[in-house]
Amino acid sequence: MSTLRLPALRLPTLRLSTLPLPTLRQSALGLALSMAATTSAQASDVEVLHWWTSGGEARAANVLKELLEAEGYGWEDFAVAGGGGETAMTVLKSRAMSGNPPSAAQIKGPEIQEWGELGLLGDLDDVAAEENWDALLPEVVADIMRFDGHYVAVPANVHRVNWLWANPEVLDAAGVEMPTTLDELFTAGEAIREAGFVPLAHGGQAWQDATVFESVVLGSQGVDFYRQSLVELDPEALGSDQMIEALETFKRLRELMDEGMPGRDWNIATNMVIEGDAGFQLMGDWAKGEFTAAGLTAGEDYLCAAAPGSEDAFSFNIDSLAMFRVNDDGEREAQQALARLVLEPTFQEAFNLAKGSIPARPDLDMSEFDSCAEQSLADFQRTAETGGLVPSMSHGMAVRADVQGAIFDVVTNYFNDANMPADQAAERLVSAAQMASF
Ligand code: BGC
Repeated sequence: MSTLRLPALRLPTLRLSTLPLPTLRQSALGLALSMAATTSAQASDVEVLHWWTSGGEARAANVLKELLEAEGYGWEDFAVAGGGGETAMTVLKSRAMSGNPPSAAQIKGPEIQEWGELGLLGDLDDVAAEENWDALLPEVVADIMRFDGHYVAVPANVHRVNWLWANPEVLDAAGVEMPTTLDELFTAGEAIREAGFVPLAHGGQAWQDATVFESVVLGSQGVDFYRQSLVELDPEALGSDQMIEALETFKRLRELMDEGMPGRDWNIATNMVIEGDAGFQLMGDWAKGEFTAAGLTAGEDYLCAAAPGSEDAFSFNIDSLAMFRVNDDGEREAQQALARLVLEPTFQEAFNLAKGSIPARPDLDMSEFDSCAEQSLADFQRTAETGGLVPSMSHGMAVRADVQGAIFDVVTNYFNDANMPADQAAERLVSAAQMASF
C-alpha cells in the first residue's frame, strides 16, 4: 500500500512568478532564441507546478520558462508560494485526486517513488537515451530520478542544506569571526546581540525549524549518527543520549533568535542578514539566490561556510521536475522538450547561478560561479568519497513524506514548547518513525 499522505486540504496561495530577469536573459537565452528558429512553432503548453516564488527563486524559474517559450512551447505557471513546498504538495495532491494533475511538478527524492507507485508518472526514457543521461548524471542523482528502472524526473540542481550565511559588517561590528563549531556560534551570537543585532535570523515555520535541526544533528553528532537517526530511522539512535544532546543544543539556538520569528518566511530572514539587521542564518543555499538577486558578491558582501561542526558533511537536496502521464501527444512532446532543456548546459548554468545551487551534471564549466558554489562543488565531491554526502531529511530526500511530516511535528512542537524536555521529544521521534512505518 502506498504511504502517500493526503493531508487535509487547505486553501492554497497561488502567485505568478513575474519578476524581470535582465542579466540571465542576456547571458543564457541568446543561444536558445537562435535555436528557436529551427523548431516547429505549433507545439503545446506545459503546466509546471513549483514553489519557486521568492526573488531569487522566481528569477531561476523564469530561466526555464524563457527557454521553453523560445522553442515554441507555452509555459503555464502553477506557482504555489510556501518555502519547503508543503503547500505546493497539498495542492498537487488535490489536483491529482481530481484527475487533473499538471504536466510537470517539482517533486523530489523518495516522493518520486510514491507518485510512481500510484501509476501517475510518465516516462522520459526516450529523451534520457537521446541525451545520454546515464553517462551525464552521477549515479546518486540518476537513481532518484528513476522509478522501476525508468526515468520519470529530471534534476535541476544540487542544493546543500547545511550552510551558515553571514553579514561580514555585522561580524566586524561585534568583533567576531565566522564560527566553525556550535560553541563558537553561541559565543559569537552573544557578542552580536551585545553589539545590537539579531544573532541568528530565523523564520518559525516547521520546515525551517527542521532545516536548522538537521544541521545541528550533523554539526554536533556527526555524519554516522545523522544517517542512523534521520535516514535509517534506527529507534536506538532516535531515542539515544546523542539525540537528546542534539535536541538540547537545537533548542538553545532560540536564545540567538528574535521575537519576530513566528511565521516569518525564510527569504525575509535572509533579508535580515542582507540588510545588516542580523548576523547569521542557517539555511540551504537557495538563500544565496536572495543574496545574488540583491546584487551582492559572495566572500565580500556576505559569507558562507558549512553549518558549524558539519564541514565534513554535505546534506544534499536535489530539485527535480517529475512528469505526469498525459494523453495528448503535443503535451507529451512539450514534456520531453522541458526535460531535455533542464539538463542542457544553458539552463543548468543560468538556473543555478540564480538559484544558489550547483549544476546537477558535473561536466560543466564553473567559471561563472562564485566562491560559495565552488566550495559546494568541492565539498560535494569530497564528501561523496569520504561518506559525508547524506540526503537531507528536512528537504524530502531521506525519508518518505509521511515520516518526514511526523518528524517535523515533533521537532517544531519541541522547539516551541518551553516545557517539553528533550528526552520526551526523543521518545516522540522514536514513535513518529515507528507509526509512520505502518
Ligand atoms: C527546495 C528549494 C527551495 C526551498 C525554499 C527547498 O525544499 O528544494 O528549491 O528554494 O525549498 O522554498
